[in-house]
Amino acid sequence: MVRPNLLRRLVCLVVVTLVVACQGPQPASLAPMAAERVVSRPPIRAAAGMVVSADMRASQVGRDVLRAGGNAIDAAIATGFALAVTHPGAGNIGGGGFMVVRLPDGRATAIDFREKAPLAANADMFLDENGTYSSTLHHNSHLAVGVPGTVAGFAKAHERYGKLPWARLVGPAVDLAAEGFVLTGNLARSLRGVVQRLSRYPATVDAFTRDGEEYLPGEVLRQPDLARTLERIMREGRKGFYRGETARLLAAEMRRGGGLITEEDLARYEAIERTPIRGTFRGYEIISMPPPSSGGPALVQMLNVLEGYDLRSMGHNSAAYIHHVTEAMRRAYRDRALLLADQDFVEVPVDRLTSKEYAAELRQSINPAMAGHSDPADVSVPHESDQTTHYSVVDADGMAVSVTYTLEQGYGSGIVVPGAGFLLNNEMGDFNPQRGLTTSGGLIGTEPNLARPEQRMLSSMTPTILARDGRLVAVIGSPGGRTIINTVLQVALNVMEFDMGIQEAVDARRLHHQWLPDNLRIEAGGVSAETVGQLRAMGHVVQVRGRQGSIHSIMIDPVTGDRLGAPDYRQSDAGAAGH
Ligand code: DON
Repeated sequence: MVRPNLLRRLVCLVVVTLVVACQGPQPASLAPMAAERVVSRPPIRAAAGMVVSADMRASQVGRDVLRAGGNAIDAAIATGFALAVTHPGAGNIGGGGFMVVRLPDGRATAIDFREKAPLAANADMFLDENGTYSSTLHHNSHLAVGVPGTVAGFAKAHERYGKLPWARLVGPAVDLAAEGFVLTGNLARSLRGVVQRLSRYPATVDAFTRDGEEYLPGEVLRQPDLARTLERIMREGRKGFYRGETARLLAAEMRRGGGLITEEDLARYEAIERTPIRGTFRGYEIISMPPPSSGGPALVQMLNVLEGYDLRSMGHNSAAYIHHVTEAMRRAYRDRALLLADQDFVEVPVDRLTSKEYAAELRQSINPAMAGHSDPADVSVPHESDQTTHYSVVDADGMAVSVTYTLEQGYGSGIVVPGAGFLLNNEMGDFNPQRGLTTSGGLIGTEPNLARPEQRMLSSMTPTILARDGRLVAVIGSPGGRTIINTVLQVALNVMEFDMGIQEAVDARRLHHQWLPDNLRIEAGGVSAETVGQLRAMGHVVQVRGRQGSIHSIMIDPVTGDRLGAPDYRQSDAGAAGH
């Protein structure tokens, strides 16, 4: 039973009050902002380097690496390990993700450290003993865990482009886990929720409570098992995770809980360096993630379609603007559902999808005054939560790194590996559930993204970099499941089409349409009742909803070259650290 006592509550309340007082004023809440084009506060400005992430302490770890002479890759690795300690809902070593890099000379690359299916996986693995699809097996079981990629991804990035010694990059995370850090109200609340939800996993309760008692804001969270795992990674590099004790502990937990991952799966995991997706929009260059992410292809496809309209004269978030953006989304998400998957296993027509010719064809099908139609005989899509995390880094030389990584849902599978202290993902849920099973209730049964041994599951994560005339412009990316691509699209349009400053671009309200269900979701406060009425008159099914995404971004000041850090204050612990 998880129960705090009164005295601890009082002590913690005092500590938190002092911490908040010392931090100075907090960003204005986004909730009361009625008008658009309002900036929550100015971006954080720095002359040399900048790190912006979901957690201020992790941003500071990255900033210190830059100060110590590390480059943006070094800082991204250190920030990623620190987030695995301080932002356990999404920061991770038991998950996977993508890193897009632009070097100071304009060359770009991408590191794919997406989880993969274990060798024993197959398309029928989410069926129960009666042969019926089971959402629990698919999303909330040991079978939902994919072979983690994060440590291999960071090791590959370091081997290829890093500058400082590996131990200098992992060390701060070891210290944060071993010595602990003070819990914010936000994180304490979040841990409370996870512990109540996951009481069936004793190692999870151990990791996120103090001897069974829930943590309170202001208390120190120490994670000794995680510290020892990170220490092995610090000493032995990727072997400290994929072989030896960590691998043994992970495989043992899989055997115990009926999962498929073996020590062989772990030993065989490889991060892959890939050629990024590149596109253009009115002279800007877009650099983003290729398959197994659908993010880069869909982003470029939508920008190509929208380049054919004068969005600026329609007006930001006007009915005409939202209508055209929605129709671009509808078409890109249809193609995504039908065609996108891990291109090492299935052929994906990326060149065609991202071509200007195909965009021109799609524009022909858009009626400027009437909503299109998403065919309900096809498929709908399941709900996805907001728990992934994106961070952005720029160094003094202008190297830019855009990282989005995830455990899939918040706290992933919820399974902490006993003795190793880290959470496992539930990324297998991003594979299609069952061949041919397409339902109006939310399942896609198309062939390309079915589970196969060692295939990577399709992702929406869209770490992206914008450039123009050979110069870096901005680093962006977001969590949010399928909403990710649309969130990134709109922040990119805010910068490229509407000339917004980076904080304004991040703060502006967003919309989402994903083909099916055929709903247009708009963030609360984003548009007037009149605009909603106009959209409904065009045939759109409009829903007003809560926040969409968390896009921790950086822009380069075109005049001074300063790095402008723009945390997305939709997420309260976010922070930018520059030097
Ligand atoms: O890779 C993906 O697209 C998803 N697993 C990301 C999950 C996510 O963003 C969760 N919630 N927002």
